[in-house]
Amino acid sequence: MAPESRHTRANRENWNASSREYQAIHRTELEGDVLWGPSMPPEKDLKVLGSSMRGKDVLEVCCGGGQSAAYLAAEGARVTGVDFSSEQLAHARAFVRSKKVRVRFIESNVEDLSMLKASSFDIAFSAYALGFVEEIDLTFREVSRVLRPGGLFAFSWQSPIYQITAEGTLEFRRSYFDRTPIVFKEESGTEVDFPRTHGDWHAALTRAGFVVTDILEPEPIPKENTYADVFPLAKIRMIPGTTIWRARRPRRLEL
Ligand SMILES: C[S@@+](CC[C@H](N)C(=O)[O-])C[C@H]1O[C@@H](n2cnc3c(N)ncnc32)[C@H](O)[C@@H]1O
Repeated sequence: MAPESRHTRANRENWNASSREYQAIHRTELEGDVLWGPSMPPEKDLKVLGSSMRGKDVLEVCCGGGQSAAYLAAEGARVTGVDFSSEQLAHARAFVRSKKVRVRFIESNVEDLSMLKASSFDIAFSAYALGFVEEIDLTFREVSRVLRPGGLFAFSWQSPIYQITAEGTLEFRRSYFDRTPIVFKEESGTEVDFPRTHGDWHAALTRAGFVVTDILEPEPIPKENTYADVFPLAKIRMIPGTTIWRARRPRRLEL
């Protein structure tokens, strides 16, 4: 495994430093479902991951405080969650204990999933995290490797159009084509986001052997969210705040 990059270290340290406050503000909204994004309809309605979890082997990539993992475990899945923040994972472990479900948690940068066996999951997913990940090609290749042939991969992140707007307005603050990392200085430390266009995400999935089946841009539900400092309902009603990608590892790899 390559040494941790400067940006990845900054993100990990920032998640460790901000986890307690993040969970205090958002955990109630995150519980009891998979929250794909601010004011997004619940997974119970969207069914991005399919209609039944019973008996499925599910990998959550960047599992955070474990709320989605606990929900899917309660629905009958065998869930593994990977995250690089020890603080987020401490919350996740306590949370699944409180819900009396079992989830396997692993502390790792998701660019390296070498601890997981090839072809061992039916579903892999990630909710609002992969824009923090620098080496997306490595990550997607790893996710593809651990999925069974025909397996489903779904993830959400900010819409690339939303990401270039200024906070609180619809004005553009940077070019859609600018891939320079976005660095936020916060009280807890430094957050780094890696902007990618729709074409970039699609190309990265394709390079990893995935076939993209859906690009979902659900309309928000009419309910304000706890991320409204960045995603106020009034704004995400005008332009999509969240994009959800759905892809399959083909049953047979085309050579
Ligand atoms: C917004 S949370 C996602 C979890 C949950 N869906 C939520 O919305 O709270 C982002 C998570 O990604 C994790 N993360 C970011 N970059 C990562 C990386 N390179 N490897 C592993 N975890 C990472 C952070 O530690 C954090 O727990």
